[in-house]
Amino acid sequence: MNRSFGIAMAATAFTMIGSATVASAQDAEAGAAIFRQCSACHMVGENAMNRVGPQLNGIIGRDWAAIEGFRYSDSHLEAGEAQGGKWTVAIMSEYLANPRAMVPRTPMAFGGLRTDDDIANVIAYLASFDADGNAVDPAPVLEEHAGDM
Ligand code: HEC
Repeated sequence: MNRSFGIAMAATAFTMIGSATVASAQDAEAGAAIFRQCSACHMVGENAMNRVGPQLNGIIGRDWAAIEGFRYSDSHLEAGEAQGGKWTVAIMSEYLANPRAMVPRTPMAFGGLRTDDDIANVIAYLASFDADGNAVDPAPVLEEHAGDM
């Protein structure tokens, strides 16, 4: 964990205290633990590269299938068009609950996350990286790219 990442996490923790009355407040730090389930195939952060799946820096608000050098399935490209082409929080939440329901023939061998909290937390974690893999405050990213919940 690099230093600026640690600072952003501390800032997030501080923000969370401020909004502790919101029952389902997203928690990027808890999301980091959930992301271990993804990290067999995906990287985020500094020097993230494509592995089995594309690197996920700046994914919240990013266009679908936008990572150069990664060969997406046709099913993924079709679903992206059907969903409007952008990874909003709303669409990502639905996707991570059951990827195959949205992208029927995807090679992403992942059954989905079970709870709404796990989904919200891992999305907050993803939103804490900008497109270059630098640590950012996830709150404004989540707000700007919420989509239609
Ligand atoms: C077993 C490997 C594997 C695991 C585990 C996995 N993925 Fe994936 N993921 C992939 C592959 C492969 C693709 C490309 C899918 C395609 O082209 O249909 C993908 C695609 C994606 C995309 C689309 C990216 C884009 O640029 O459009 C997102 C978002 C994503 N995964 C998030 C996650 C998250 C979050 C987790 C953990 C909760 C996860 N994945 C777990 C392999 C995996």
